[in-house]
Amino acid sequence: MLDDTKKRPAILFLCLGNICRSPLAEGAARAAFARAGIEALLDSAGTGDWHVGHPPDARAQAEARRRGTDISDLRARQLSPGDFTRFDLILAADESNLHDARAIRPAGATAELRLMLDLLPGRAGEGVTDPYYGEADGFATTWDDVDAVAVALVAEFSPSSG
Ligand code: 4NP
Repeated sequence: MLDDTKKRPAILFLCLGNICRSPLAEGAARAAFARAGIEALLDSAGTGDWHVGHPPDARAQAEARRRGTDISDLRARQLSPGDFTRFDLILAADESNLHDARAIRPAGATAELRLMLDLLPGRAGEGVTDPYYGEADGFATTWDDVDAVAVALVAEFSPSSG
């Protein structure tokens, strides 16, 4: 039986298109939470609607696969006002995503809204570089960043961390 006194964490990863950074973050987090044996509600979304229904960018899928994670079944969706009560924490990839999210944040929102890299010592305030327009190796850097965020999240939500 699920222990309802300890609600599972609900975390949404947010970027612009929901085909590069946030699906990589979702994939890294799914893998990290599964390794730790912690149940969590994990999802990702974009502030924009251009790629709604699309799978992650092929380069993002390839990078995730290279790191042992399959993200091919993810589909892009757009951030909605309901996400601000459904999730405890919304982690934006960069300042622009944060700004756009604040613009649709409804009254009564309960989710905490932060930058992904705020979770990493010495990286607060930094954005995760958008690899979409760059070379394929940008996706490796993105994975390194979002995987570190995933590991930090697991530490934060581990029962032993109190
Ligand atoms: P993402 O990258 O926000 O990390 O998914 C982008 C994907 C698509 C576009 C921009 C950024 N686009 O302009 O279509």
